[in-house]
Amino acid sequence: MMMGMKGRNGCYYLSVMLVYGVFFLHCLVMTSFAGNVTYDHRALVIDGKRRVLISGSIHYPRSTPDMWPDLIQKSKDGGLDVIETYVFWNIHEPVRNKYDFEGRNDLINFVKLVGKAGLYAHIRIGPYVCAEWNYGGFPLWLHFIPGIEFRTDNEPFKAEMKRFTAKIVDMIKQENLYASQGGPVILSQIENEYGNGGIESSYGPRAKPYVNWAASMATSLDTGVPWVMCQQPDAPPPIINTCNGFYCDQFKTNSDKTPKMWTENWTGWFLSFGGAVPYRPVEDIAFAVARFFQRGGTFQNYYMYHGGTNFGRTTGGPFIATSYDYDAPLDEYGLIRQPKWGHLKDLHKAIKLCEAAMVATDPTITSLGSNTEASVYKTGSQCAAFLANFGTQSDASVSFNGNSYHLPPWSVSILPDCKNVALNTAKINSVSTISKFVTHSSEADASGGSLSGWTSINEPAGISSDNALTKTGLMEQINTTADKSDYLWYSLSVNVKNDEPFLQDGSETALHVESLGHVLHTFVNGKLSGSGKGNSGNSKVSIEIPVTLVPGKNKIDLLSVTVGLQNYGAFFDLKGAGITGPVQLKGFKNGSTIDLSSKQWTYQVGLKGEESGLSNGGSSLWKSQSALPTNQPLIWYKANFDAPAGDTPLSMDFTGMGKGEAWVNGQSIGRFWPTYSAPNGGCTGSCNYRGSYNSNKCLKNCGKPSQLLYHVPRSWLKSSGNVLVLFEEMGGNPTKLSFATREIQSVCSRVSEAHPLPIDMWDLEDDARKKAGPTLSLECPHPDKVISSIKFASFGTPQGTCGSFSHGRCRSNHALSVVKKACIGSKRCNLGVSINVFGDPCIGVTKSLAVEASCT
Ligand code: GAL
Repeated sequence: MMMGMKGRNGCYYLSVMLVYGVFFLHCLVMTSFAGNVTYDHRALVIDGKRRVLISGSIHYPRSTPDMWPDLIQKSKDGGLDVIETYVFWNIHEPVRNKYDFEGRNDLINFVKLVGKAGLYAHIRIGPYVCAEWNYGGFPLWLHFIPGIEFRTDNEPFKAEMKRFTAKIVDMIKQENLYASQGGPVILSQIENEYGNGGIESSYGPRAKPYVNWAASMATSLDTGVPWVMCQQPDAPPPIINTCNGFYCDQFKTNSDKTPKMWTENWTGWFLSFGGAVPYRPVEDIAFAVARFFQRGGTFQNYYMYHGGTNFGRTTGGPFIATSYDYDAPLDEYGLIRQPKWGHLKDLHKAIKLCEAAMVATDPTITSLGSNTEASVYKTGSQCAAFLANFGTQSDASVSFNGNSYHLPPWSVSILPDCKNVALNTAKINSVSTISKFVTHSSEADASGGSLSGWTSINEPAGISSDNALTKTGLMEQINTTADKSDYLWYSLSVNVKNDEPFLQDGSETALHVESLGHVLHTFVNGKLSGSGKGNSGNSKVSIEIPVTLVPGKNKIDLLSVTVGLQNYGAFFDLKGAGITGPVQLKGFKNGSTIDLSSKQWTYQVGLKGEESGLSNGGSSLWKSQSALPTNQPLIWYKANFDAPAGDTPLSMDFTGMGKGEAWVNGQSIGRFWPTYSAPNGGCTGSCNYRGSYNSNKCLKNCGKPSQLLYHVPRSWLKSSGNVLVLFEEMGGNPTKLSFATREIQSVCSRVSEAHPLPIDMWDLEDDARKKAGPTLSLECPHPDKVISSIKFASFGTPQGTCGSFSHGRCRSNHALSVVKKACIGSKRCNLGVSINVFGDPCIGVTKSLAVEASCT
């Protein structure tokens, strides 16, 4: 018998039933999502069915196209239904009316890959996107359109916004990618958080007309799928207002006709140069997600599921770091982060077990006592329940439907049948891993990756280009550079008469400079005399440094540097940068000061090396010297290297360098700044997941460089003859650079007698479940590796976390031998966490099994 049928997500299968009753399923065409997408007060409705959807953000330009299929597959394996991305106007239209959708900018290919994997897509067009992206995603030319005012009821702005939005919608339509055309795109977003934190009100009476215009402009584009606005309480119908934040369970939709949707659940936070590394414990994320679904939510998106890298000069800011790791379930390099990825995957399975009940009805929410709450989704034969303890201190024992349930603080238990616990958000069954970047010495080694053939070119201090311009007074930087470069030189000469006292008595003069930011280097007579920098909280620079002046002409060259343009806040586009003054020389005759602010200055946008295209390494000016000049400012370096062996993600350790930008085979891997360290205070050894999270709650890496490791995408490398180019602003030693690859040191798990069974055992019959009991599963993450040694095993009351487990007072004597026997030599092993397996070392105490293993 042969027949065609439509599989999940509409994939067309040809099923061939053989005489022996075996089915062969083969997907004939690219996944087709025949889909009419609408919504009602409960959920998005796809093909007539309400859906509970789990989504995750992956921004396509923050990884390379060769990484996309793997990132998307790992998202699918992690239980996502939807991939959400912003669209970044500035990379697509760098010059007005000149479009770029190639390589990392290939939005359409990205969406197609999402569809091919059988996932849906949510396209957040913005076109203002925030996103820690340069200028919030706006191209700089937009700023120079006469009469333009961003994000308000302004005709020139609206015309451009509409043109770009329509262009993207058209491209998606042309490729039949909207669900209404059989494609994967089920949603789009217009604007971004305009209604958030007083932004809308800052724009006064013209704000609301703008919101209404944006809404009707979007709907007029006829995508056939719904539009959302996030954090927009006044979003007009049919636009859905959605929530962004660390928690959205308390979110109320602005209409009883729209579903409760969460477009940004921040899985961590972004890193700034000069800041510590934020992280968010998975128990808290899982709690937040479960609470959201408990209280009626049906669409939830992780921002970010994969954060990736801010290559080139794409970071916003100011001061956003090059890494956009975000502590996401997939790390910057696309590697699975455990236990985050695994625990959320289990959570998604538990939620999906409840989907039928959840979409059938609204929840009935009741209090179970102090800080505890039950939600029940029940209709006919369907029943699913969520039991929460939102207290931060104590365990709760609650009675529900005649049974008793134990709820750790800040946790939710999910009961897909209103009886058995499939998952508790604070009890992790997933493995965790410890991994480390291991540097490969830059000395020649057999595995490649050694940097050799160093050459350099000095970048002149001050004006070197014919394109310099002269003007009276100090000019704002962004208006002057149009962000063509991070760098702007402000130069002039000062004549010093012979009779100045400091020339005779050795007293000092001082140079005082005030700048809007972000970084300033001052050169007097060609020598670096001082530097200053702002920080992510305050980008302004104010310096007063001693300088040595000579009789006659003194050259003063101020290099003002931007580190990503502002991306957030009302009127962020007008924030400005550069030296605004005063610029003064202090310590002249009779204590007088010379104010240089309104003198005639000469300006140069960018560096000579930028103008002559040194970044791809091709110039005849590269000089090799017997001793490579190091620790000097304003210098370009070049080296060659063979690709380090293997195909695992690669990173470069920038220890020894100061600040600048790096290119591999002409492609910018981003700004480096390993000398900007996080403050000493504010980090916690281990972060308590109980209680409300905020972006400062869990920080690590205090007192250390914010970012030492920089991603070098494998796809940018050839096997040999690669070229590395660096521009160093302040001084560094490039021979200290080394490549690093990540190696997994340990795989751990810790499961207690009170843990629910692994979610994969949910389908077992009651008897089999009882027999199995809580189970610890250990698995080597690499497909070709097996468990080779057990570094630690303890059944009883073990202490600590993966990498630092220790035995507690109570311990079984058999743990190590039992675990070794079950696991060594296997890729995966399962151990019953039970006194039947290990004996009972302490009667009446809840015991755990903790294991740390290594895989080779
Ligand atoms: C949100 C914004 C995102 C991103 C995030 C922080 O407010 O919508 O684009 O900037 O904050 O990572």
